[in-house]
Amino acid sequence: MPNFKLDDREIPFEPGETIIRAAQKAGIDIPHYCWHAGLSVAANCRMCLVEIMPPPGRPAMLLDVLSWDTEKQEYIPQKKPKLVPSCQQAAADGMVVKSQTSEHVDTARSAVQELLLLNHPVDCPICDQAGECRLQDYWLEHQGTKKRMRDEPIHKPKAVVFGPTIVYDAERCIVCTRCVRVSEELAKDPVLSVRERGNLNEIVVAPGRQLDHAYTLMTEYVCPVGALTSIDFRFKARVWFLRSARTVCTGCATGCNSFTDFDPRNQHAYRYRPRENLAVNKFWMCDDGMLDHRRIHEGRVLTARVRGEASTIPAALEKAVEVLSKATADSTAVVLSAEHSNEDNFALLLLAKALGFSAVYQSGRPAGPGDDILRHPDKNPNTTGIASLAKASGLKTFAEFVEAIRAGKASTVLALGSATPTGGGAAALSDVKNLVAFSTHEGPFAERARVLFPASSWAEADGTFVNAKGMSQESEKAITPQGDSKPAYRLIAELAAALGKPLGWKKLAELRALMAPPAERSAASESASLGAE
Ligand code: SF4
Ligand code: SF4
Ligand code: FES
Repeated sequence: MPNFKLDDREIPFEPGETIIRAAQKAGIDIPHYCWHAGLSVAANCRMCLVEIMPPPGRPAMLLDVLSWDTEKQEYIPQKKPKLVPSCQQAAADGMVVKSQTSEHVDTARSAVQELLLLNHPVDCPICDQAGECRLQDYWLEHQGTKKRMRDEPIHKPKAVVFGPTIVYDAERCIVCTRCVRVSEELAKDPVLSVRERGNLNEIVVAPGRQLDHAYTLMTEYVCPVGALTSIDFRFKARVWFLRSARTVCTGCATGCNSFTDFDPRNQHAYRYRPRENLAVNKFWMCDDGMLDHRRIHEGRVLTARVRGEASTIPAALEKAVEVLSKATADSTAVVLSAEHSNEDNFALLLLAKALGFSAVYQSGRPAGPGDDILRHPDKNPNTTGIASLAKASGLKTFAEFVEAIRAGKASTVLALGSATPTGGGAAALSDVKNLVAFSTHEGPFAERARVLFPASSWAEADGTFVNAKGMSQESEKAITPQGDSKPAYRLIAELAAALGKPLGWKKLAELRALMAPPAERSAASESASLGAE
């Protein structure tokens, strides 16, 4: 692989790669605003300037400049090397690049910072971006001086509602055009553009339109400053209180890699952010997925119930044992859930096997809109996972489950999950005499269960999900289980023990070892993602 030298460090690069991307992949952040690895190069902010040393024996390209001499109180002619935007310049083998070790680069970055902050309001204390704002960070790293301009700054529109999800503050905007390029290049909907020139310019929505495509939250996500804020997240939390878990979005079968940002003090998940994985979601997530964190706290089943009355888990276990001890194999159905992880589904399969129940069906959320960007019409994260886990059992569809209920072959049902793929199927559940369900959310199963166990959501447990491409991905636990809930695999193990049929594992690692041979698991972790911009 070819190499170039960046501040005395050798950086490998793929032919055609820019200096900034190769440096980023090597873990070095060259300061930048407008560049984003997933977007075209705009090279408009000039924050990423670097000095490229001339090859031995060749003269440097020098520019004539005037510098202010504070002693003489006059401008004096000088020469300085022509700096180059590293976001645009392709790396070349043997190239020598100075970023942190060039005084010319230092001066240029400081000047760019000063220019960007000339008209910027000093409203960091009330800005939602505070704590993760590049203007703040780079001021500290590359400028650190007080404002010299004494004039009234230019004032521009504030709190402009761009659409159902995004609010714009033109005074904070540095017109890097990342949001414009996200709309055009990712969402294929060029609804944003730049109006005016110089310090009057601002981002505007196309006349007669709203910013309302399926990826609007990616405009806010890429905005390096506090100009775009999401209506969902603004003023809800200070980012320095949040911690992040490396998770997988459960909004559809694409399985986008994400961070779940949560406040450990109140165990509340506040937002998702994309996590780079070039093989799955590249740098992005869709709006539906980004807003799916709300389901972690909304509509949850948080206590056990027996015949619809609030109960405790031990009392529910007792009742479930009573129900299941009388169940016969030919009138019992087991329902796996494509909403749940492999761990939860595998534990249920183990229990079904221990009890001799062999009729295995699947449920999940109804299909929804998809596109050729990220969104998959299958709104379940683990349809492929359960198909492969239950291959040997001959996994049957939800429609077949409804037929089995109608034919009287499912008077007892042991079910995982909350949603059903069709409204009609949900009604059929009313005919099930003994429904024992493990549900995260209110829904047809929780409503009709004779015994209901409160299952923890995907954010409250480690879990493995297999996406539509067949990639097995692990999602980390973010917050502690809500209410009385426990991970479904734990509840199932407790039920198995209460039935006198222990499942043969105590820890999650032991369950995982039973679920897949070690070789397969290490192949799964190869899909691990790289991080976030
Ligand atoms: S709103 Fe944000 S992303 Fe869009 S141009 Fe302004 S600073 Fe850049
Ligand atoms: S495409 Fe699917 S997995 Fe990706 S963010 Fe959207 S809902 Fe989540
Ligand atoms: S990152 Fe803006 S010019 Fe390179």
